[in-house]
Amino acid sequence: MLFVDELQAVGANCKCANYFLWTAFGFGIIKLTTFVLRFLSLIFDIFLLPSTDYSKYGAGKGSYCVITGASDGIGKEFARQMAAKKFNLLLVSRTLSKLEALQEELQKEFGVTVKTLAFDVSLDQNSNYLSLQKICDELPVTVLINNVGQSHSIPVPFLETEEKELRDIITINNTATLLITQSVASSIVRQASKGHTKGLILTMGSFGGLIPTPLLATYSGSKSFLQNWSNALAGELKPANVDVEIVLSYLVTSAMSKIKRSSAMIPSPKNFVRSTLSSVGHRSGAQERFASLTPYWSHALYHFVIEETLGVYSKMVNSINYGFHNSIRQRAIRKAQRLAKSQ
Ligand SMILES: NC(=O)c1ccc[n+]([C@@H]2O[C@H](COP(=O)([O-])OP(=O)(O)OC[C@H]3O[C@@H](n4cnc5c(N)ncnc54)[C@H](OP(=O)(O)O)[C@@H]3O)[C@@H](O)[C@H]2O)c1
Repeated sequence: MLFVDELQAVGANCKCANYFLWTAFGFGIIKLTTFVLRFLSLIFDIFLLPSTDYSKYGAGKGSYCVITGASDGIGKEFARQMAAKKFNLLLVSRTLSKLEALQEELQKEFGVTVKTLAFDVSLDQNSNYLSLQKICDELPVTVLINNVGQSHSIPVPFLETEEKELRDIITINNTATLLITQSVASSIVRQASKGHTKGLILTMGSFGGLIPTPLLATYSGSKSFLQNWSNALAGELKPANVDVEIVLSYLVTSAMSKIKRSSAMIPSPKNFVRSTLSSVGHRSGAQERFASLTPYWSHALYHFVIEETLGVYSKMVNSINYGFHNSIRQRAIRKAQRLAKSQ
């Protein structure tokens, strides 16, 4: 009798183990299937899908695109490539002379109308936002590119970050970006509500916001803020026929990155902007995120691999990131010391 009981107990345990194995197998299949689907979607987004058609956003129909931080780097390239797509432009930046030179160049080359508005967004003055709103209220604006941004001059421990740098980063990247969007977006919503075109709001995020970045803590937090803000706004403006997307980018050659030579991982602004504009509406490297795109092919693969392996919030990624930025800091300090000695 005892023997039969024992056999029954073993049988029950086997059944339990069988259920467990089948459940684990089921979860494994689901995980593997979603991974394969995300990977295929990544490959389609980066290499196979056709470029975004900008006629739906009013290209060539007299519509305006507003670009902030438009006088240099990535913003200047957005201006050039949107002009090539036959958008009229409103260029916003700090230095009027640079804006006027670009205005003349783009009007001559592409036959579009280019308007300019120069102000220092770090001042966070209400009068500047009102001037912008007044201009936009009188124009058929369909696209806003929130490109202006500031980072730390060199990687720096948070406790040693100068107050002005900290305040400027938050004001430029966050407060001004939000208020500029409020000033421009009502005009975009008005155009989109007429039903002839859609609206588009692109905001420059960064891998600094995607991955918590020690020694760039304030910049990292400010770009992370933009991610959630932009994704939330995407939900709000979807019924109004306006697409809202955050653009995630690793390094690009520019004055801000202080990198002059491009490479497979670090594109020029021209190549970066080309892939961004052709990828709007695709997620590329940001497969797990709504209303987000990591457009440049090598950045996209990098984003995908981190998400699918260690994860952006992992301890290991954080400490690798710390080591990377610490070595940049040490090199920048040594360079500054050499310069000081030679003077
Ligand atoms: N470069 C990268 O590696 C990288 C990577 C990820 C994300 N991003 C993001 O991409 C965006 C553009 O970066 P970028 O590298 O092209 O920068 P950039 O070359 O330094 O150009 C910055 C632009 O913003 C304008 N600007 C700066 N401060 C301003 C202020 N206080 N008021 C008004 N305009 C101001 C500049 O105008 P002036 O010419 O008049 O100074 C310039 O037109 C930023 O949001 C950045 O965070 C860049």
